[in-house]
Amino acid sequence: MIELNFTPFPNLTTERCELRKLLLEDDQEIFITRSDKEILRYLDVPKAQSIEDARKFINKINTGIENNEWIYWAISLKGKPKCIGTICLWNFSIEHSAADIGFVLLNEYQGKGIMREVVPVILDYGFNTLSLQTIDGEVATGNEKSINLMKKFGFTFTEDIGDTLIYSLKND
Ligand SMILES: CC(C)(COP(=O)(O)OP(=O)(O)OC[C@H]1O[C@@H](n2cnc3c(N)ncnc32)[C@H](O)[C@@H]1OP(=O)(O)O)[C@@H](O)C(=O)NCCC(=O)NCCS
Repeated sequence: MIELNFTPFPNLTTERCELRKLLLEDDQEIFITRSDKEILRYLDVPKAQSIEDARKFINKINTGIENNEWIYWAISLKGKPKCIGTICLWNFSIEHSAADIGFVLLNEYQGKGIMREVVPVILDYGFNTLSLQTIDGEVATGNEKSINLMKKFGFTFTEDIGDTLIYSLKND
């Protein structure tokens, strides 16, 4: 049975990136990740209408972390404070020792191998620190970038729920 405790916050690093807690100072970038037409193309999230919406979202996320509901990282390049994207584990099932993974990058940072570097660190955290048995990715049909990214790490297609496909990775 998994036990969730995200205090102190699990800061993580990769070769080029730091994974840290979201800050209110990230409001501009979070606003873009939740309002940019291209980024939202395959994401089923409510579109942010204002910076205030982004700040409310950041507060909601950090409250959920304090309540051990989900774990959500801001991604920044080492030595640079700017948030260039986010990655998270959410929708935890204590019963099934499972969670969903979610990730998004600002357009100008995509296609540079950043998620290829960050995703394995989150998979390791999920499987080896949280002892998850399964990590799922819910992806909209047509989102080839995300599907290819997940396949790269061994996720396999498990279910089609209308416009959304489920890809899963087991902790072997
Ligand atoms: C999906 C996303 C996170 C990929 O991150 P990224 O840092 O650009 O990906 P990387 O550069 O590390 O590439 C890793 C792998 O992803 C896949 N990928 C990335 N860009 C791709 C593209 N333009 N076309 C096809 N596959 C692509 C490939 O498998 C790639 O591996 P390869 O380069 O060895 O072929 C990014 O495109 C994004 O933020 N998209 C918008 C938000 C979104 O759709 N999130 C997913 C919700 S399920």
